[in-house]
Amino acid sequence: MPSDLPFRLSERAQRTHPFYAMEVSKAAAQLVASQGDAPPMRQLNIGEPDFTAPPLVQEAAIAAIAQGHTQYTQALGLPALRERISQWYADRFGVAVAPERIIITAGASAALHLACLALLQPGDSVLLPDPGYPCNQQFVQVAGARAVHVPVEAADRFQLTAAQVQAHWQADTRGVLLASPANPTGTSMTAEAMAAIHAAVRARGGVTMVDEIYLGLSYDRAFGQTALALGEDIVSINSFSKYFNMTGWRLGWLVVPEALVAPIERLCQNLFICPSTIAQHAALACFHPESLAEYERRRALFGERLALFTAPLAAMGLQVPVQPDGAFYVWADCRDAAHRLGVQGSWEFAFALLERARIAIAPGKDFGPQGAQNFVRFSVATSRDNLEDALTRMQALLG
Ligand SMILES: Cc1ncc(COP(=O)(O)O)c(C=O)c1O
Repeated sequence: MPSDLPFRLSERAQRTHPFYAMEVSKAAAQLVASQGDAPPMRQLNIGEPDFTAPPLVQEAAIAAIAQGHTQYTQALGLPALRERISQWYADRFGVAVAPERIIITAGASAALHLACLALLQPGDSVLLPDPGYPCNQQFVQVAGARAVHVPVEAADRFQLTAAQVQAHWQADTRGVLLASPANPTGTSMTAEAMAAIHAAVRARGGVTMVDEIYLGLSYDRAFGQTALALGEDIVSINSFSKYFNMTGWRLGWLVVPEALVAPIERLCQNLFICPSTIAQHAALACFHPESLAEYERRRALFGERLALFTAPLAAMGLQVPVQPDGAFYVWADCRDAAHRLGVQGSWEFAFALLERARIAIAPGKDFGPQGAQNFVRFSVATSRDNLEDALTRMQALLG
């Protein structure tokens, strides 16, 4: 507890872990401040696209401000935006999702928060894959429930399986919170694996929540199908942050069964009033054919970068047990590489790479106990030139 605070800090605030990747970022910034930025720091720790919103989206935001479209919207979001997202599901995934089931939120973060608040309460637990997105456990805990981390295997693409759901289900389990494609692994579930999990959860009266924030960024036809195809009882979380390159605009959405819309609307009204009006008007332009073409061009670039970056890693002692099929992450076992540098564990390895090659990466301990010691996450959300330069530096260091 901070000693200079004249009143009590909540236990929740005290027990919330920092993002360890931010510690690496801080150390990177300190290195640059003390030694200058030559050679430039290569930031492979950042989990956001290096692209900004395309021109039509920017213009739509400017027009919304100029025309005074800045009042609150409905708590569930602009009806026109809910309709465009519904159309996107039909056009891209061939899945009918009624606009009434789509709730616009302040990013996937608010969508996760709302889903957990609406569905969980003290005494409940939820199964989460380990490794996984670190904030999920916080959303579960803020709702008063318990996050149960289930270690997932490379053989299962680092995804939870129906057998694990059966094995770990307890009397207090309310459901699962999955991600496909996932952070930090960049790996997805097949439609069959997802269906099997959903069947197991459904049979136990639980809820299947799937974070599909990276759904648009899929590079392998074997994956990339939305879990919403499995039925109207799926809760899907999505966002304009990643595929639509709008991280700082704070806009996302949640798809829920029809009967959940009204309770979540009440939560939205009370907790958020509405998501950013300007961002919502801007996001309408994401679905213009010109913007969609640009997003597809960028998606292809992300796919190429992943392939380019992943191929030479094994020779450097960085084993990638499952090739990423989505998102922009590479989850690599760094034991051999750490040994080559004479350091131990992913934390020391991340700092060795930072200090000796000026490359910032995310250490495994951000993403749960399982990969904490032996894994690191590289993000390829940076230019091809930067990635090639990072590889050259790593080759020089790791051989
Ligand atoms: C798996 C996952 N879910 C949710 C989020 C939060 O995204 P948003 O910017 O939409 O709140 C992130 C951000 O990195 C993420 O990786």
